[in-house]
Amino acid sequence: MLPDRPAPRLLQRLLSFRVKPIEDAVLDGEAPEHRLKRVLGPVDLVMLGIGAIVGAGIFALVGTAAAGDHARPGAGPGLALSFALTGAACALTALCYAEFASLAPISGSAYTYAYTTLGEVVAWIIGWDLVLEYAVGNVAVAVSWSGYFCELLRGFGIEFPKYLATDLRSALADPDLLASAPRVFGLPLVFNLPAVSIVAALTLVLVVGIKESAWFNTVMVVVKLIVLGFFVLLGMFYVKPQNWRPFLPNGWAGVQAGAAVVFFAFIGFDAVSTTAEECRNPRRDLPIGILGSLAACTLIYVVVAVVLTGMVPWNELGVAEPLSVAMRVVHHDWAAGVVAFGSVVAHTAVLLVFQLGQPRILMAMSRDGLLPPGLARVHRRFKTPHVATILTGLFVAGAAALASLEEMADLCNIGTLMAFFLVCLGVLVLRHRDPHRPRPFRTPAVPLVPILGAAACFWLILGLPDIARVRFAVWLLVGISLYLAYGLRRSRLRQAR
Ligand code: ALA
Repeated sequence: MLPDRPAPRLLQRLLSFRVKPIEDAVLDGEAPEHRLKRVLGPVDLVMLGIGAIVGAGIFALVGTAAAGDHARPGAGPGLALSFALTGAACALTALCYAEFASLAPISGSAYTYAYTTLGEVVAWIIGWDLVLEYAVGNVAVAVSWSGYFCELLRGFGIEFPKYLATDLRSALADPDLLASAPRVFGLPLVFNLPAVSIVAALTLVLVVGIKESAWFNTVMVVVKLIVLGFFVLLGMFYVKPQNWRPFLPNGWAGVQAGAAVVFFAFIGFDAVSTTAEECRNPRRDLPIGILGSLAACTLIYVVVAVVLTGMVPWNELGVAEPLSVAMRVVHHDWAAGVVAFGSVVAHTAVLLVFQLGQPRILMAMSRDGLLPPGLARVHRRFKTPHVATILTGLFVAGAAALASLEEMADLCNIGTLMAFFLVCLGVLVLRHRDPHRPRPFRTPAVPLVPILGAAACFWLILGLPDIARVRFAVWLLVGISLYLAYGLRRSRLRQAR
């Protein structure tokens, strides 16, 4: 007889690996009190994808990826290769997302997919990771938005007070800035006012309605695509092929580090899946939205990277607004202004889609009893998850008031990569456990594509700085403590047993 093993039994009691039936997950979304308006079609979804993808990554972090910084080597002209590799890694994950999105079209995205395949604990961990992707990612984008917004105002001769557009760490390192700030109860008033304001304004738009939000997004997507097209068409006349030599100044280590940085530029194609309950035909249209937006953005990024590194020597690109700087280097200051305007618009679109995605994931987690029930409430008139939307707005605005761009972007990257890794594994598990379930979209070449997808996510995690991995470990510990304190006892799945 096998000896009694108390530790695994305790683990089993504490941590539920039970999965939620997919049918239950679909029924949850159809309950009248949770039902959202089904108004989105395939074009809306591709637009939402591009809206979420093209933002701070291509307009700001691309400079760090090319030139490197104190924590990592730069990719140099090999930046285009970094983009192509990360695009390929994301395509592998996107194929896995598309299969899940078509067979379980629920707002919870990767969280719901994990719940139906890998069990409650893994689902909770993914849901907790997705807060890094959506909310913390948006903190980074809001901070970057503020930088470009101040740059744009400068073009009109308006200087925004520095103490009202800074993060806490920079402020504490700058005694002059602290001295210039007004005092409130003896404390210097330093925070990022533009970042807080844009998040507050978008939260309001999202409470009012999904259709209005999609329309607003489409306008912004058109503007940012025109501006990136303008950058490429004007910039290619100033390309000097000698700037492309040597192609890999820091070897493959530079390409890998660059790929990990520009991963931020790709985050967002998966956000399309959070609108599953607002699509007219989610099983057909979600794969189109996810794969279509990713393909379009990869193409745009590679072209922009080729032109950018051809215009400016790679080691001069380590600036906050590299595309505008490139235009200034070729003496087109007016074009730098146009690019700055496009960048503000692009950032706004990303903020909008991410502010839209986070509440829908919280809503799904709340329906499962892992978060308080109030987060699943839908507004009677607007039919939007207003409580979760407002809470997300408060969290993002509060953090953006004080946080810095780089720290938030690295944290967002690692959390998202972990979620993508688990989604790839989830496809393998479900194919094994439930091979005959109808799949309107099938990931091709299983198990090769999910295995390569998971390996690619792991490779990108290795390209991030050590401090990001330490912060991520702390984040996970906090998440697991919350699960033990609340979700473990309130889980509907466990209560139904
Ligand atoms: N992909 C989004 C951006 O680059 C997060 O801003």
